[in-house]
Amino acid sequence: MDLPFDGAISAFFENDAPEDVRQAIRRSDKDDILSPSYPHDERLSRKTYERDYDRLQIEMVKLQSWVRAQGQRVVLVFEGRDAAGKGGTIRRMRDNLNQRAARVVALSKPTEKERGEWYFQRYIKHLPTEGEMVFYDRSWYNRGVVEPVFGFCTHEQREHFFEQVTPFEQMLVEDGIHLFKFWLNVGRAEQLRRMLSRESDPLKQWKLSKIDVMGLSKWGEYSAAIQDTLARSHSPETPWTVIRSDDKRRARLAAMRYVLHAFDYPQKDTKTLGEIDPTICGGPDLWDA
Ligand code: ADP
Ligand code: AMP
Ligand code: MLT
Repeated sequence: MDLPFDGAISAFFENDAPEDVRQAIRRSDKDDILSPSYPHDERLSRKTYERDYDRLQIEMVKLQSWVRAQGQRVVLVFEGRDAAGKGGTIRRMRDNLNQRAARVVALSKPTEKERGEWYFQRYIKHLPTEGEMVFYDRSWYNRGVVEPVFGFCTHEQREHFFEQVTPFEQMLVEDGIHLFKFWLNVGRAEQLRRMLSRESDPLKQWKLSKIDVMGLSKWGEYSAAIQDTLARSHSPETPWTVIRSDDKRRARLAAMRYVLHAFDYPQKDTKTLGEIDPTICGGPDLWDA
């Protein structure tokens, strides 16, 4: 495997990162939020996080019981830049669930055979059956963002994707699948801080890829492709939910609350579930580069 442990991220930080990003990281305390437009100054305290987390876990278990008993099908798509917190959020949402009925789908790059198929085909294979929740850690939206940014698809393929994506998702919804589309939004300094920490931690290095390193200098291309994608694939039946994930703790709680609020499962404890923080979880207008 080709892993970028050779200091490519610290080299980017030292030599190529914009000055404001470099300064924000240098000056920051552990609990500071680095994005100037983030609506909270500090990360949520561990104490509050753990209290709310435990409560929400109980609700997630109740939700899954209902999903299984009723034979419901749930799809949760997680998108976002590298290090936005997709994998971590998914892991926390599934923490106490029956793992077999709460599957993660994290596909690697398409094989030759898959390249010859209809673009959606390899994702469709993993859609839920009755009683299942399926978490997509990245999804068909690769064709909206990562693929064009790295030239893995043509302009025509991307346009074709946008013609098909909303009808495709509408078919899922019309068939009774509950579809959630989360876009985790992380600021540039926070993303770089997370990557630096991954680079220096042997237990986190596996999270880094060549794409992550090369992507660092493509912030603007990503921004344009993300904005375009959010605008072109948001519909009343298939809406995007943007979660600002500069504070991972708040983001994880928000994702769980959003899903829990959407269902009317037995013994739902609406009061302890807590309100969704509309300043970090909402529609595409919350997205910020
Ligand atoms: P992740 O961030 O999910 O750990 P990477 O950073 O390696 O994974 O890659 C980001 C995404 O780009 C993945 O979904 C991967 O499948 C996709 N990707 C990587 N290389 C290619 C390629 N040559 N063609 C199409 N997609 C690719
Ligand atoms: P290019 O190298 O500019 O010809 O583009 C290669 C691929 O990247 C094409 O599929 C384009 O659609 C895509 N692409 C380039 N820039 C952007 C952008 N800012 N937003 C979305 N797609 C882009
Ligand atoms: C994340 O942490 O956002 C992803 O799951 C992994 C990555 O893209 O770095």
